[in-house]
Amino acid sequence: MINKIHSLGGYIHEYQKSIANPQAFWAQQGESFFWRKRWENVIDWNFDEPSIKWYVNGKLNITENIFERNLYTHGDQEAIIWEPNNPQDESRVLTYAELFSEVNKFANTLRRLGVGKGDRVAIYMPMVPELAIALLACARIGAIHSVVFAGFSANALQERINDASAKVLLTADGGFRGDKVTPLKQIADEALESCSTIETVVVLKRTNSPIEMIVGRDIWWHKAVDGQSDVCPAEIMDSEDPLFILYTSGSTGKPKGIVHTVGGYMVYSAYTFTNVFQYHAGDVYFCTADIGWITGHSYIVYGPLLTGAKTLMFEGVPTWPDAGRFWDIVNKYQVNQFYTAPTAIRALLAKGNEFLENKKLASLKVLGTVGEPINEEAWHWYHDHVGMSQCPIVDTWWQTETGGIMISPLAGITPTKPSFATLPLPGIQPVIVSNEGKELSGNSVEGNLCIKFPWPGMARTIWGDHERFRTTYFSSYSKMYFTGDGVKRDEDGYYRILGRVDDVINVSGHRLGTAEIENAINEHPLVNESAVVGYPHAIKGQGIYAFVVCGELSTGGEEGIRRSIMQGVTKIIGPIARPDLVQLVPGLPKTRSGKIMRRILRKVAEGDASNLGDISTLLDEDVVDQIIEGALVDVKV
Ligand code: WT7
Repeated sequence: MINKIHSLGGYIHEYQKSIANPQAFWAQQGESFFWRKRWENVIDWNFDEPSIKWYVNGKLNITENIFERNLYTHGDQEAIIWEPNNPQDESRVLTYAELFSEVNKFANTLRRLGVGKGDRVAIYMPMVPELAIALLACARIGAIHSVVFAGFSANALQERINDASAKVLLTADGGFRGDKVTPLKQIADEALESCSTIETVVVLKRTNSPIEMIVGRDIWWHKAVDGQSDVCPAEIMDSEDPLFILYTSGSTGKPKGIVHTVGGYMVYSAYTFTNVFQYHAGDVYFCTADIGWITGHSYIVYGPLLTGAKTLMFEGVPTWPDAGRFWDIVNKYQVNQFYTAPTAIRALLAKGNEFLENKKLASLKVLGTVGEPINEEAWHWYHDHVGMSQCPIVDTWWQTETGGIMISPLAGITPTKPSFATLPLPGIQPVIVSNEGKELSGNSVEGNLCIKFPWPGMARTIWGDHERFRTTYFSSYSKMYFTGDGVKRDEDGYYRILGRVDDVINVSGHRLGTAEIENAINEHPLVNESAVVGYPHAIKGQGIYAFVVCGELSTGGEEGIRRSIMQGVTKIIGPIARPDLVQLVPGLPKTRSGKIMRRILRKVAEGDASNLGDISTLLDEDVVDQIIEGALVDVKV
């Protein structure tokens, strides 16, 4: 079993061990897994190329570690507990043995469709058990899964399928989300109009929406699986073979295909799950994320299942049928660990305490948050009202690229402080670096968050573009992984994440590149150029503020143009990227060399233009005055 920490002293001891001798520490964590062939070196690495290898030359299959390793002890135990969108519908429970059988059947299905080791399988599905089955079936046969969040548009799906050259697409006739149905198959059809690599589309029946099936390309899931054997030998993988690709936004336009590999990711997701949430055998664990994001990969599917946990998967949304839905689920399944995003907490807080009253939440032991900084008001509400002051809050800082939680309290062990992610997990060596690249040691310092030593769960490359991987993460500061986040270390050595320092914004816990949104806006025929910044938003954390320069106004006038710009972004990326505010401006503030001075736009969007800092390089000050005058928020000057 994974080495579980039980006390603060234990944490300090493990942390020191992990720094003094990382090889020995991670070898010990690796020991608890089943390897077809043991690794030779624990780590081979340098951050210059960069080249990062863990459990070098080890051979394994991650699904053998979920199933074969554990079936004797808990084959009959619940693995996935699934709560449907509509509370009136029946829930589903899959034991480890049942899940194993479904995974094998679907793995055989994929093999029969010609999918083999190293092939990419794109997955665009709702939050149903088949989604988890699909991931594990890919892992079983060594195919690389690439899940695309089912809220993305046809255009975004197409871009991701093409970048990964996926061979097969898994989707559904539709997805339920609250009182809405997302036409997934229809969107997928549109995406596939310009994808040449997809040979087969497997379609799960979920909503019974009328769809078109293209002969020779599309097959129904249930028909494809019918008659497949529930025995499927696992493909033997190298530790460093890719397990999955997951796309995330960066500061330039094109999404990055983050690659995680089998061995290190397995050890890291299981180790962090066990220790951060302090999961005990028999507990029911509920993470509200979507499997379309890294949180779902690591902490709905892999981490919990590798640990033999009961993981709850929820298809719906927190506010339907009403804002008490999460709490009803907690009571229905007697949830012990609950993990969600600050934006959900703020949205529920805003609906008032009436939705919490009379709910039975006494089963809760641990509350978690992830995705963005949690403000103190939300932290206290979560702590006092949801946790009834009985549950520790784990504010977990990590990223798609880190594969698992990096800085976080261990539940009930690390003393917490509202809005602090607190201390690094064993094996994690954070450093704070000034803009000039100087490491700031000691307490009470603030700067850029970097990590100076590898950890098993870290990304290995960007799919098809290793050079971009190097420049994005390893070139800002020599011999360090740069996270893109600002951070403060307080007088107690506790870490508080301050938010992104690059052109990435965090909207409702979703990471969006401003350049990506600008590109979408610029597609609009009347738009000449645009600049997007984040601004403080009570529920979303950050809202999207777009400053747009148009050549001329169409007949719909300003309002019409604003609306069509918003619709355009929804169409090109998806509803999550839709600007909250679109201000039409006569020009953008630029330097003499033509660079947009985003700092000024950020100040305006924040509502405080009283101190714009150094504007000596600004080409045209009148533009700034006009922007402030027409601002869509109150601006202090
Ligand atoms: C960015 C990563 C990791 C799963 C969800 C997001 C921000 C994440 C926290 C936290 C403050 C946080 C950072 C990070 N972030 N967790 N606990 N406190 N900020 O994954 O989409 O890759 O985004 O989310 O800015 O860089 P992601």
